[in-house]
Amino acid sequence: MKDREPVITIDGPAGAGKGTVARRLAERLGFQLLDTGAMYRAVALSVARAGLAESGVAALDGHLQKVEVSIVDGQVLLGDEDVGALIRTPELGQLTSRLSAIPAVREKLTPLQRRAAGAGGVVLEGRDTGTVVCPDADVKFYLTASLEARARRRHAELLALGYGVTLEAVREDVRVRDRQDSGRTLAPLRKAPDAIEVDTTDLTIDQVVDRLAAMVEQRRCCTRS
Ligand code: DC
Repeated sequence: MKDREPVITIDGPAGAGKGTVARRLAERLGFQLLDTGAMYRAVALSVARAGLAESGVAALDGHLQKVEVSIVDGQVLLGDEDVGALIRTPELGQLTSRLSAIPAVREKLTPLQRRAAGAGGVVLEGRDTGTVVCPDADVKFYLTASLEARARRRHAELLALGYGVTLEAVREDVRVRDRQDSGRTLAPLRKAPDAIEVDTTDLTIDQVVDRLAAMVEQRRCCTRS
């Protein structure tokens, strides 16, 4: 590892547990957390608010130049508005997945994410953090789980946030997003060749965090001179 704290990436499909695991791992290591999906969601919110959800790429280009997205102390900001509580709806998830296949959207966010990771001591979470954003990351994880387990987790999360959705609707949503996120040409959801794959289907969050933290420590002590 380099002369700075490690950069850790966690990628995987919707509902694999990345969000909670990344937050807990970052807390345990005392690292920053960069939820790259939240940045894509914030852009999608700005697009929806501007009435451009159905517009072509040309109209989006102008809009994207004006949008300012950042994550400051864990808060997702659009300009200086904290939009964290507004970006988790299933509808916005679908729009986000669709918009994130557009080159101009990725070209807007990827450099911001790279810059945020530059100093090290960060856990990035998303779809392409180990393949495109930080291909030189020190430790890369790829979390998976069965479609059923992922749908159930997403369903429970959405109910907890107060969204009255059925398990069937969530399962379909997860299936469509899997297809969109893995099937796009640009920065598709993929396991990096050097990522450690962890199937979380039958593991608790604690077990996953313990496992990842142990692997990070192992890498750290083996490469310390
Ligand atoms: O992780 P999430 O559900 O908040 O992500 C929402 C969408 O954002 C996801 O369906 C695809 C997109 N995304 C992406 O394209 N690249 C990332 N690094 C993170 C998210």
